[in-house]
Amino acid sequence: MTGARRPMSSAAAAAAAAAAQFPLLLFLLLPLLFLRPSSVSAQVSPGSTLSASNLNHSWPSPNQSFSLGFVAAPADPSAFVAAITYGGGGAAAAVWSTVSTVDSSGSLQFLSDGNLRLVNGSGSTVWQSNTAGKGVTSAALDDSGNLVLGNDTASVWSSFDHPTDTIVPSQNFTVGQTLRSGLYSFNISSIGNLSLWWNNSIQYWNQGVNSSTQANLTDPTLVLQSTGILSISSPSLTSNAIVVYSSDYAEGSDILRFLRLDSDGNLRIYSSAKNSGTTTSRWEALDQCEVYGFCGNLGICSYDNSSATCGCPSQNFDPIDPKDSRKGCKRKVNIEDCPGSATMLELDHALFLTYAPEVSSQVFFVGISACRLNCLVSGSCVASTSLSDGTGLCYLKTVDFVSGYENPSLPSTSYVKVCGPVVPNPSSLEGTGKNKGWRLHAWVVVVVILATVLGLILLEGGLWWSCFRNSTKFGGLSSQYTLLEYASGAPVQFTYKELQRATKGFKEKLGAGGFGAVYRGVLTNRTVVAVKQLEGIEQGEKQFRMEVATISSTHHLNLVRLIGFCSEGRHRLLVYEFMKNGSLDDFLFTSEQNSGKFLNWEQRFNIALGTARGITYLHEECRDCIVHCDIKPENILLNENHNAKVSDFGLAKLINAKDHRYRTLTSVRGTRGYLAPEWLANLPITSKSDVYSYGMVLLEIVSGRRNFYVSMETNNKKFSMWAYEEFEKSNAENIIDKRLFGADQDLNMEQVMRAIQISFWCIQEHPSHRPTMGKIVQMLEGIMEIERPPPPKAAVDGSHGGSSINVSSNISALSTLAASAPPPSSSSHQTSGETINALSTWAPSAPPL
Ligand SMILES: *[C@@H]1O[C@H](CO)[C@@H](O)[C@H](O)[C@H]1NC(C)=O
Ligand SMILES: *[C@@H]1O[C@H](CO)[C@@H](O)[C@H](O)[C@H]1NC(C)=O
Ligand SMILES: *[C@@H]1O[C@H](CO)[C@@H](O)[C@H](O)[C@H]1NC(C)=O
Ligand SMILES: *[C@@H]1O[C@H](CO)[C@@H](O)[C@H](O)[C@H]1NC(C)=O
Ligand SMILES: *[C@@H]1O[C@H](CO)[C@@H](O)[C@H](O)[C@H]1NC(C)=O
Ligand SMILES: *[C@@H]1O[C@H](CO)[C@@H](O)[C@H](O)[C@H]1NC(C)=O
Ligand SMILES: *[C@@H]1O[C@H](CO)[C@@H](O)[C@H](O)[C@H]1NC(C)=O
Ligand SMILES: *[C@@H]1O[C@H](CO)[C@@H](O)[C@H](O)[C@H]1NC(C)=O
Ligand SMILES: *[C@@H]1O[C@H](CO)[C@@H](O)[C@H](O)[C@H]1NC(C)=O
Ligand SMILES: *[C@@H]1O[C@H](CO)[C@@H](O)[C@H](O)[C@H]1NC(C)=O
Ligand SMILES: *[C@@H]1O[C@H](CO)[C@@H](O)[C@H](O)[C@H]1NC(C)=O
Repeated sequence: MTGARRPMSSAAAAAAAAAAQFPLLLFLLLPLLFLRPSSVSAQVSPGSTLSASNLNHSWPSPNQSFSLGFVAAPADPSAFVAAITYGGGGAAAAVWSTVSTVDSSGSLQFLSDGNLRLVNGSGSTVWQSNTAGKGVTSAALDDSGNLVLGNDTASVWSSFDHPTDTIVPSQNFTVGQTLRSGLYSFNISSIGNLSLWWNNSIQYWNQGVNSSTQANLTDPTLVLQSTGILSISSPSLTSNAIVVYSSDYAEGSDILRFLRLDSDGNLRIYSSAKNSGTTTSRWEALDQCEVYGFCGNLGICSYDNSSATCGCPSQNFDPIDPKDSRKGCKRKVNIEDCPGSATMLELDHALFLTYAPEVSSQVFFVGISACRLNCLVSGSCVASTSLSDGTGLCYLKTVDFVSGYENPSLPSTSYVKVCGPVVPNPSSLEGTGKNKGWRLHAWVVVVVILATVLGLILLEGGLWWSCFRNSTKFGGLSSQYTLLEYASGAPVQFTYKELQRATKGFKEKLGAGGFGAVYRGVLTNRTVVAVKQLEGIEQGEKQFRMEVATISSTHHLNLVRLIGFCSEGRHRLLVYEFMKNGSLDDFLFTSEQNSGKFLNWEQRFNIALGTARGITYLHEECRDCIVHCDIKPENILLNENHNAKVSDFGLAKLINAKDHRYRTLTSVRGTRGYLAPEWLANLPITSKSDVYSYGMVLLEIVSGRRNFYVSMETNNKKFSMWAYEEFEKSNAENIIDKRLFGADQDLNMEQVMRAIQISFWCIQEHPSHRPTMGKIVQMLEGIMEIERPPPPKAAVDGSHGGSSINVSSNISALSTLAASAPPPSSSSHQTSGETINALSTWAPSAPPL
């Protein structure tokens, strides 16, 4: 058959000779007899029709490589599309199709007016070439797979110029053409970049030609060579720029290679051997799970036996279509329907895909806890991703559509806002990255615990003997562990009963912080402790333990030490070392100087410095950086030597949305004035929010008055505002606590002035104008010069007194500031390489953070 084309007349003669005996053969060869010898295409004359009811009927190319006919639609086997297929390969080898489908009574009609149209059973046109009245006299499918509608001399319409999802060798893919598959599309830009798009908006793949060849290309054309090399040609290139070689390039014969945008959003080069009916992928553009939207909205993509599968983040979600996991997920309870009880579901080793143009809008440099919290407190945020790949980036997703990817190798943690309580996916689900991650984690924990216990048992043998002689009474085994583990630094787990006993039934209340009441307790080994009964914890046991591990691994001289915890049923308690002198507020804001609760300047300065060092450690030096979120005198505790120790760090992460937001805001009503303006404006909370709070505390340490204190003396202004005015008028001594001027006091005015100026720098309205905690320590120590602080501006929470501030206008001003902030890339290493002159970098043009 293949040789029959050129020696047509002899072949025809032979056929005619055979026809007498083999009429059937003649019938089969008949169409060939009508071919013009010069033609390379099998012509289809106007008036011809293909019917979807007969799939055997098709219009082949001259050497039968390709044919145009009906095939079952890929998405719906009961419907049909008209398609050009290679070597009888069916839909899998379709290189062009009408996309629109018809039922089995549909037909493809090449009309005498030159129009080619697809008509369904009821006679409606569902697709057409729009070539009516353009002088089209013939339709022909050539041996490269191009269907051309044209007159005798020129092409009017061709399938190569109207590609659907595939490009074949000898097809030119040019600027302005698009491959489409569902919501996905692929095109080439005028400078030669190849891009994949989701819903015409998210660009999830963008590849330029080799940058050493990158002069801007003119008229770039993408071509796939039949050997499997994908390249870009352009008049401005001397030779084709190669994009990629397929894995089987230049191998085999009679193999058709084609480039296809698949319905899963990936771009692949396929090989199909003739008549094999199979196609094999030889290259794909990207990791399937990196395809935006592959698993639909809120779907999580992961690899199961190396094939990408879709699932939902947790049992708080339902699949939109149980039969098609790619349709995505929806929350069982909408966030709007649970105001106040929203919480963040944690997904380890997961990220939410972020591509241009979304990429630049919601990215911050904050720690993992702040990344979670920022999203929790922001009404528009639905999810967040904290990368742990060294970039320190946090992405807040405020868009309607988020696309998840989970893989044990991903160094990131993501959070999704859900209505509490969190119901994790059943861990019996084999094989997902998440569960592998959990299992591995559990395994490590078990090994560590076993090793610790073994070690302790050995140690204990020795200690038991020495203790036994000196002690007459034992509080049971666990007190032994308490002693030993306390010494070893690991957090001790207590039973609720033990703590009940230790606190004598929670009798002696030391105070009530933002996270729950604190009681004095005595452990069986006589250690005095402070037991905090946490309220509003929505987290599961495992997560609580992980947080406890983080908190207790955070050791610093100026941080209160966590001794142990209790997690039993609904009880969540933390056991801290006891601070004999209570909290700083007791000393600062008591009126009677003779109560003994008075701190001289030297003590105050040491407390300011110690507090700054403790927070610096949280921000900059420990492994998982922690934004405290609740710095205030009540959380600065003093030991017997009046050394400062910051407490309650790491707790913000434990508290759910409702409790966190309202609790903190209500506690602010009691201790108003420590929250940075960004809290109230729903802007991202960063370590600079702690700096603001620290600045307020520092001012209070100097003044002995609450920063929000309003009186006639302060001109009916908030103390912090009034203080700046006094400072401006060079009346700084009015700010200072009168008690510090006592006769026996040795007031270091230089230190005091430094502290005052630092506090004004800290309470700058815009976070980027505030120094880092590390710099504050240096400024306090006098290592770093301090420039004269600009006015801090009105804080937003100024509802006290007569100086009431227009809150909404302030918030919009803040939002504007945030929106116009420069891109974050310039600020990733704010702590390194600072010099003494670095203070000048807080000019308003400075990068954020
Ligand atoms: C199509 O061809 C197959 C074999 O190639 C045959 O079994 C089938 O009956 C044919 N169908 C029609 C509608 O001719
Ligand atoms: C044919 O197409 C028209 C328009 O697209 C549609 O309204 C009609 O339901 C289709 N009929 C059949 C039988 O598919
Ligand atoms: C059909 O023609 C094309 C283009 O001329 C050629 O590449 C291919 O090898 C031919 N196939 C057969 C089976 O002759
Ligand atoms: C064929 O079409 C081309 C372009 O549409 C036109 O320029 C040419 O005159 C046509 N030739 C004939 C023979 O109709
Ligand atoms: C593709 O482009 C090349 C070079 O511009 C040209 O020679 C060739 O005819 C084009 N092929 C088609 C099918 O248009
Ligand atoms: C795709 O974009 C359109 C608007 O451009 C929007 O209406 C539609 O919701 C988007 N689809 C999805 C699945 O987000
Ligand atoms: C490529 O496709 C995207 C998304 O549809 C579109 O915004 C862009 O303009 C296209 N580029 C070109 C050169 O066609
Ligand atoms: C083209 O792609 C390269 C990556 O290969 C990228 O760096 C460049 O920014 C892209 N250019 C445009 C205009 O998208
Ligand atoms: C880019 O092209 C140059 C020479 O044309 C080659 O040496 C280099 O390896 C290419 N780089 C890549 C990434 O392909
Ligand atoms: C390429 O084009 C981009 C924008 O279209 C332009 O910014 C850039 O300067 C151009 N580069 C060259 C080498 O012409
Ligand atoms: C994964 O592969 C294993 C063995 O290769 C097989 O038993 C199991 O069914 C596969 N799981 C899935 C979901 O395909």
